[in-house]
Amino acid sequence: MSDDFDHSSNNGDANHNHKLKKPKLNPFISDLQIRAEFAHHDPDTTRINNGSFGSCPSSVLEAQRKWQLEFLKQPDDFFFNHLKPNILRSRAIVKELINADHVDEVSLVDNATTAAAIVLQQIGWAFMEGKFQKGDVAIMLHYAYGAVKKSIEAYVTRAGGCVIEVELPFPVKSDEEIVTEFRKALLKGKSGGRRVRLAVIDHITSMPSVVIPVKELVKICREGGVDQVFVDAAHSIGCTDVDMKEIGADFYTSNLHKWFFCPPSVAFLYCRKSAVNHSNLHHPVVSQEYGNGLAVESAWIGTRDYSSQLVVPSVIKFIDRFEGGIDGIKKRNHDAVVEMGEMLAKAWGTNLGCPAHMCASMIMVGLPASFGISSDYDCLRLRAHLRNKYKIEVPLYYRPTRDGELDSLTGYARISHQVYNTVDDYHRFRDVINELVRDGFNCDQLPTK
Ligand SMILES: Cc1ncc(COP(=O)(O)O)c(C=O)c1O
Repeated sequence: MSDDFDHSSNNGDANHNHKLKKPKLNPFISDLQIRAEFAHHDPDTTRINNGSFGSCPSSVLEAQRKWQLEFLKQPDDFFFNHLKPNILRSRAIVKELINADHVDEVSLVDNATTAAAIVLQQIGWAFMEGKFQKGDVAIMLHYAYGAVKKSIEAYVTRAGGCVIEVELPFPVKSDEEIVTEFRKALLKGKSGGRRVRLAVIDHITSMPSVVIPVKELVKICREGGVDQVFVDAAHSIGCTDVDMKEIGADFYTSNLHKWFFCPPSVAFLYCRKSAVNHSNLHHPVVSQEYGNGLAVESAWIGTRDYSSQLVVPSVIKFIDRFEGGIDGIKKRNHDAVVEMGEMLAKAWGTNLGCPAHMCASMIMVGLPASFGISSDYDCLRLRAHLRNKYKIEVPLYYRPTRDGELDSLTGYARISHQVYNTVDDYHRFRDVINELVRDGFNCDQLPTK
């Protein structure tokens, strides 16, 4: 069985034996073909939120459907002969993409939340088994993702670990601001001779969204004697550079369903071979594969649909239709989201949440101060208002002002850019916000539940 379904249009190499030169065809995917690949998106909704759930083109969905049918056609044959080698094939592709040393370092799991549970579970066991002592420290960013924070609470705090949060400024102006805060937190963690057992570092924070100087922070951890470094990079692959040798973390996870065009749900978890005792790493769902290595355990967690893990070769085919492949996509998304962010900030008289080099394919744009955003709840209600009344999907962030601060911007929108977006999406958003300002809109006018 093969996943080599050919979805590419046959634009290529036709002319070898012809004397007459035919006009050169553009070998890359056209705007029309991109539109067709995402025709299942609600045409009435302006989707400038790729970050939360990603997006999957129809050619990859077709490939997924074929895998599902292959399983249903003869499940036993599929299970005994095809599932494992094809998951391995996807892992091998990911291994190359992320510059890992060995395919055994790469496991495919459902999502970043599952990956975090795997990493944190072995930390919890280290406390339980007396390898770590009560009061030993874990460091995480203040802006760590909610589910990851909860996981730290469940596995580290409950086991007696002490958790230190790295405060981060927002809006942020430079990598140095983040590095300085991180160093401070590490010093605090080590105070009184304590051991820092774990650092959890985001590669791209979710809310507010900023690219973290992860390579530098990992290096600081190494120099500071931190035992294990886990990078939560849920957004990274397809969005920013991902190189395991350069970053140097012990654990690194990224969703493939956010910016890498896989259907939900699939993520990779990288575990550095030389750094961690792999026999301590286990999938939280235990199957008969328990003890056969994390990658094998993760490739069978009971009967379920594994198709999202099998379509990675089809995703590569999709990506290769774009000029420059995934690097080209990343660069164009970055350039576009910065340009659109600047356009919106100018139109609303606000500012961006970070400089261009600190964002990838998402950027934070200040909302007009006149909206009077004064809580997370206001953001939720305003987001629902934009969805329900204007059919605009965009996540919003509440930023409390600190004492004596002059900056009056308390609300930011996290806009994103993916290949299916057009300038019209951002113009629509601009115009709706301008209309609300003109109408004297304020969050107090929103319905409460
Ligand atoms: C930084 C970060 N970590 C973890 C996650 C969780 O991802 P998932 O829901 O796919 O597990 C997200 C989701 O947006 C995220 O932004």
